[in-house]
Amino acid sequence: MNALVLRAENAPVMFEEMETPVAADGETLVEVKAAALNHRDVWITKGLYPGIAFPAIMGSDGAGMVGDREVIINPSMNWGDNPKVQSNDYQILGLPSKGTFSSHVVVPTSHLYDKPAHLSFEQAAALPLAGLTAYRALFTKCQLQKGENVLISGVGGGVALFACQFAIAAGANVYVSSSSEEKIAKAVEMGAKGGGNYKSENFVKDLKSKSGGFDVVIDSAAGDGFAGLVKMCNAGARVAFYGATRGKINGLDPRTIFWKQISIFGSTMGTTEEFEAMVDFVAEHKIVPIVDSVFELRDGNAALKRMDEGLQFGKIVLKV
Ligand SMILES: NC(=O)c1ccc[n+]([C@@H]2O[C@H](COP(=O)([O-])OP(=O)(O)OC[C@H]3O[C@@H](n4cnc5c(N)ncnc54)[C@H](OP(=O)(O)O)[C@@H]3O)[C@@H](O)[C@H]2O)c1
Repeated sequence: MNALVLRAENAPVMFEEMETPVAADGETLVEVKAAALNHRDVWITKGLYPGIAFPAIMGSDGAGMVGDREVIINPSMNWGDNPKVQSNDYQILGLPSKGTFSSHVVVPTSHLYDKPAHLSFEQAAALPLAGLTAYRALFTKCQLQKGENVLISGVGGGVALFACQFAIAAGANVYVSSSSEEKIAKAVEMGAKGGGNYKSENFVKDLKSKSGGFDVVIDSAAGDGFAGLVKMCNAGARVAFYGATRGKINGLDPRTIFWKQISIFGSTMGTTEEFEAMVDFVAEHKIVPIVDSVFELRDGNAALKRMDEGLQFGKIVLKV
């Protein structure tokens, strides 16, 4: 098989011929047609994830064929029995197991789902990890209701964009933030009501007055900007974050949080049931993942660079 192989930290990935893996009992060999990047893959190349063993084949997202069946893969492995939190054996496909940046991947058979019929392989590959993370944060954690005001922070992000699409489909009033006016305009074209540039001086004040405040906020940046997101919350608001792109949170005002009965949730990936509900939601609402760009598998370094630079709007896909 062909694969993108990472042989050391901070080194380029190499397009190499590797031995095709063999499926054990309960596993299936998938012929990968398309894979998608997540920011996690960039963090892995930089050595920022524990448990990396070289040579590594990254990639959590994939769509492909098993015989005549078109499938997508649920990358959320060994969640366990407690829907509130993953088990100690929890893993995400692509580290430490060999992932989808490869012409073939072995996965547990129970993690294969029919590819939604309205999606191409490239669109379907974009869905699993980011769609699952967005779904749990928005619906399980924040219990988003139709007609509520939602802020999706950093809408250029893969997960954020799914959260934006899902919240629009659920009938919420969606606002977005971004460092890019162009990305805000694209979100508005998709059905968002408006947005603001989180780098602008009066971002918090302006967006709060434009929107009337938020009932739900979805964020992946954390860092110094997080306190401003909480300032824009209405009473009873729910805030979920699943990333720490901008590091530790500073400057939160506890009085605002308890007086306005605001709930702040950490969220990571999701359960098998949430994956199934997410795929059903996508099929029901005919949601089409936004694909920023498609690279050939052999051009994996260019794809990783694009994600590292943060220029994308939507998912970066590898065609296998
Ligand atoms: N816990 C989980 O299950 C889980 C799952 C997926 C991802 N993550 C984490 O979530 C983060 C995003 O992942 P991703 O794959 O969606 O990444 P991505 O596609 O590379 O998106 C990153 C986005 O973050 C936004 N951003 C950067 N600085 C920001 C700030 N100060 N305020 C608001 N937004 C900011 C940018 O949005 P603009 O371009 O619009 O400015 C950027 O496009 C990463 O840290 C990743 O590790 C966690």
